[in-house]
Amino acid sequence: MRGSNAHPGTGFLTSGRVPDLGSATVRRVSSLPAGSIGRTVIAADVLAARVSELGAQITEDYRDRRPLLVGVLKGAFVFMSDLARAIDVPVELDFMAVSSYGTGTTSSGVVRIVKDLETDIEGRDVILVEDIVDSGLTLAYLRRVLGDRKPASLEICALLVREGAEDSGAKYSGFPIPPDFVVGYGLDVAEHYRELDAIRVFEPA
Ligand code: IMP
Ligand code: MG
Repeated sequence: MRGSNAHPGTGFLTSGRVPDLGSATVRRVSSLPAGSIGRTVIAADVLAARVSELGAQITEDYRDRRPLLVGVLKGAFVFMSDLARAIDVPVELDFMAVSSYGTGTTSSGVVRIVKDLETDIEGRDVILVEDIVDSGLTLAYLRRVLGDRKPASLEICALLVREGAEDSGAKYSGFPIPPDFVVGYGLDVAEHYRELDAIRVFEPA
């Protein structure tokens, strides 16, 4: 397809500024999910201010320790990157990826580890970093799995906690969030909109 600006099979025309990724890419450019981006729920500057506060709180709580931040991919990647830079003690980073067996937007509570940690967490001070606690089932599963590996401590830092899930046990949480489905700042709908700098409502068509 070199020299062409049409992505085969997608009907998606690029502007020509998008690099030709060649045949090595498996995922094609997909069409946008049906729906639209609605109102801003949490603006970028508000996110930044709260992440600074969380970083300061963690800095205070982990003086003389070297916490291991465990990000849950992919949703936590933006939050984790800002949070790590807002913490003023040395941190280490690792990532896990999980997939829920739930269909669509509902979580079944049955979770499969798609990518496991590279770090042995026994004896470590682990902070699990999540984008959003919705039903809390993913978190409950990860807490059990990581807890079994005998970390010295295990705390949860969630950017968003759905109203009604406040008792999920996140020691550090950014914002309560109403029931609307939200995207941006790492959160997606069908892999789209993770790059938005604010948390926005996604309104399905
Ligand atoms: P839980 O197991 O129901 O707590 O599901 C948590 C996961 O569902 C999060 O890590 C997100 O990946 C996803 N999720 C839940 N609500 C939203 C939302 O409003 N926008 C994007 N992803 C969401
Ligand atoms: Mg997620």
